[in-house]
Amino acid sequence: MDAEKLSQLTQKVIGDAAGAVGLLLAYIGDQSEVYVTMDKLGPATTQEIAQAANLDERYLREFLSSNAANGYVTYDSAEEKFFLTPEQSAVFAQDGQPTCLQGYFQAIVGQYAEHEKAVETFKSGKGRPWGEHHLCCFCGTDRFFRPGYVGNLITNWIPSLDGVDEKLKGGVKIADIGCGLGSTTIIMAQTYPNSTVHGYDFHAPSIEEASKRAEELGLKNIEFHVSDARDIPKESYDFACIFDALHDMGDPVGVAEHIKNVLSDDGTFMLVEPAAGDNLEDNLNTFGGLAYGFSTVVCVPTSRAQEVGLCLGAQAGPKRLKEVLNSAGFNHVRESARTGTNMVFEVKA
Ligand SMILES: C[S@@+](CC[C@H](N)C(=O)[O-])C[C@H]1O[C@@H](n2cnc3c(N)ncnc32)[C@H](O)[C@@H]1O
Repeated sequence: MDAEKLSQLTQKVIGDAAGAVGLLLAYIGDQSEVYVTMDKLGPATTQEIAQAANLDERYLREFLSSNAANGYVTYDSAEEKFFLTPEQSAVFAQDGQPTCLQGYFQAIVGQYAEHEKAVETFKSGKGRPWGEHHLCCFCGTDRFFRPGYVGNLITNWIPSLDGVDEKLKGGVKIADIGCGLGSTTIIMAQTYPNSTVHGYDFHAPSIEEASKRAEELGLKNIEFHVSDARDIPKESYDFACIFDALHDMGDPVGVAEHIKNVLSDDGTFMLVEPAAGDNLEDNLNTFGGLAYGFSTVVCVPTSRAQEVGLCLGAQAGPKRLKEVLNSAGFNHVRESARTGTNMVFEVKA
């Protein structure tokens, strides 16, 4: 054994352990509004922050000490005050901005909360249905994906598809399949008022929440339905899309075949999946660690709990996804856009 390598690995893992507990604290700070309060106050003592956020000062002092040690907040020892730099504010306090990582924390906390089920699933090799996860899994997933959709869907991904933006502006029928809490469905309904957007997901509580959000926004051109992806009605959609969900499905080939059948003759299917390379070694980076991690506890068990149980995983890569789409009868598959976290495919018959 190499003592130097052992020391480096130990230091890294201790850093990860500090991060693991740091993320729990960051989530507590999100839920108790510590970061947004600090953002408003600027440099402040623990007494001032505790008073403004209506929190216990002793707990807050311990919390902020850990946060300062982790670099999540800054401590001014001369003044004995804590504050957020603009960068710390962007990551911890600016919910909804692409820079804010609270959605990741929420999704991770949701997994820790039900660690017994995760261990049992892993040991048994049995499927674990999407609906059997902690509520934070649904909210956290929506929260960490949404900023990427807000930043890219309308300005980058749809324009990367041949002629689709014009069609949607003119007014067509859209299907958003595996829509979860409906963030993408809502963005499309808001942007394309002449089109009608149908959101489908087999998880009833997600559809309930999505419908509530659309109603609160007063959207009239949107409908949500509880449905398995293979059962969506044959209504001739001009545009179908799946965002970060095909790999969670048990039968991605069956789903793609069904989409081919429900699309109009010149319809387009836009597939958005987590960014990945074709080989494991291409994905051995921080994003790969995160994606394979969630895939181990969420995506693969979700797929296995369904018929067929193909278990594509969240890092399937373009080659494998093209095989799936080709075997469903789609001959045209073109990667049309990519961001750090997502890849987009234009798929046609
Ligand atoms: C990772 S979430 C993505 C949700 C949403 N598209 C988003 O990007 O926020 C995966 C979604 O796929 C849905 N799902 C998985 N298998 C499904 C199936 N066979 N039919 C319909 N929905 C399915 C789950 O209920 C979940 O909402």
